[in-house]
Amino acid sequence: MANEKLDELRRLKAEVALGGGEKRIENQHKGGKLTARERMDILFDPGTFVELDVFVHHRSNNFDMGKTRAPGDGVVTGYGNVDGRLVYAYAQDFTVLGGSLGEYHANKIVKVQEMSLKMGAPIVGLNDSGGARIQEGVTALSGYGKIFYNNTISSGVVPQISVIMGPCAGGAVYSPAITDFIFMVDGTSQMFITGPQVIETVTGEKITAEELGGARTHNAKSGVAHFMGKDDADTLAQVRELLSYLPSNNLEVAPPVCSSDDPNRLIPEFDELVPDNPNKPYDMYKVIAGLADDGKIFDVAKDYAKNIITCYIRLGGNSVGVVASQPMVAAGCLDINASDKAARFVRRCDAFNVPLLVITDVPGFLPGTDQETGGIIRHGAKLLYAFCEATVPRVTLILRKAYGGAYIAMNNKELGADLVLAWPSAQIAVMGAEGAANIVFRNDIKDADDPIAVRKAKVAEYEEKFNNPYRAAELGYVEDVIEPSESRQRLISAFDMLESKRDSRPAKKHGNIPL
Ligand code: HXC
Repeated sequence: MANEKLDELRRLKAEVALGGGEKRIENQHKGGKLTARERMDILFDPGTFVELDVFVHHRSNNFDMGKTRAPGDGVVTGYGNVDGRLVYAYAQDFTVLGGSLGEYHANKIVKVQEMSLKMGAPIVGLNDSGGARIQEGVTALSGYGKIFYNNTISSGVVPQISVIMGPCAGGAVYSPAITDFIFMVDGTSQMFITGPQVIETVTGEKITAEELGGARTHNAKSGVAHFMGKDDADTLAQVRELLSYLPSNNLEVAPPVCSSDDPNRLIPEFDELVPDNPNKPYDMYKVIAGLADDGKIFDVAKDYAKNIITCYIRLGGNSVGVVASQPMVAAGCLDINASDKAARFVRRCDAFNVPLLVITDVPGFLPGTDQETGGIIRHGAKLLYAFCEATVPRVTLILRKAYGGAYIAMNNKELGADLVLAWPSAQIAVMGAEGAANIVFRNDIKDADDPIAVRKAKVAEYEEKFNNPYRAAELGYVEDVIEPSESRQRLISAFDMLESKRDSRPAKKHGNIPL
């Protein structure tokens, strides 16, 4: 081939690789952000990223767009390997028209979405965009519509991960919101439907972009985002780690990871872990880390609704999703946010064949007007629904309190748990002994000569009857009461036994989860 042709190809590719040009790249770096292509290089195994649609360009002539150069139309798309497995990705290029989404920019994203669905491989979107390209009008809006549609069709078929790596406004936030996981970068990423200026105009309220939609706000307050990295590289490393706990699609299981951690390892400190005083908290993370291979936990939404923990661990090399009460926060009560967080996590695990381990120490649903008027009934119902529809292997381990509706909501036998194990410290009852005595024996206590003594006796009687796992075990609601120190061994054996589980539900268009 004539050298000129090769030279021309190289020149054209180099031009596109420069995106919006050196000045804008410098600005991106000054703002603590990497460029779209630099991000792709970190996301993928070295040298494996292959770019597609390099030469695509917009066809808009509105305003000055006919003269505006937009390499790659502001988005880099393609595929590569993460830990040797195929993954698709797109990265919006803020140096080109602010990463704004026009017709052809959207077409490029739609193309990799469709490829990811056909090939059954995860897709990662690196978002850094001013939203709909203002000069393009309805074609930009139509582009968003197609992306949202594909996000929804792919939901539950291939893992979809969104990473927010710059200001994301308007339409730029709704595609991420439909996907399975949202990562944000601390200090350099924001998400909002309407920004601070619009808010000030409409409501008079003054707020910074960071307070309104920064990584901390969405991780801790709104629950929109599930992870936060300290910079671009740290965030992308977390994305790679998350992918390791997931299969490529809904027909596969997550790849096992060898560990030298003995599946039969005993954990003697567990025998002393639960305090005798039922009002004394302990840290559930210690339990999860003790159980997990090499003590490794990948926490999901760790800063939101901290009264419940949702995380991935490996047991005997296999990926397991954990939903656990956290007695250190609000005594581990279930409330609106905890129910939402846990229900979403259960559905993610079920969609992608990740078995579920539920660890219970729950005194009940949180009482209060805020909770009732905020719709705890509707939100709590999501958790019940999510467990009932889940067909993956499900094991529940009850450590201490398992009271009332919350006992059911934490994956009890009737919701479909395949195996329920309990520590000897477990208390499975309608409520705690004190509360129960006050209600059931109110009259006996009131009419007694020595009400304090009678109350004490009634509390003891209730404790004797229900504050242990044996009544539930006698009735088959608990398969076994185990020594805490043997928990890891017993759980690994349980999940091994359940590996071939096949469970089905009646055919239907779709269920109607109480949203
Ligand atoms: C076209 C855009 C753009 C947009 C930014 N740019 N947003 N071009 N359409 N939506 C361009 C800027 O003109 C500028 O071009 C370059 O990108 C960088 O933008 P700056 O403003 O200089 O950067 P910065 O100060 O960092 O501010 C970033 C920003 C701001 C916060 C994102 O640009 C902004 O507020 N943009 C508009 C956000 C917005 O309202 N989008 C529409 C949402 S409505 P030059 O040439 O100067 O470098 C929407 C509807 C979809 O998305 C709804 C679907 C449900």
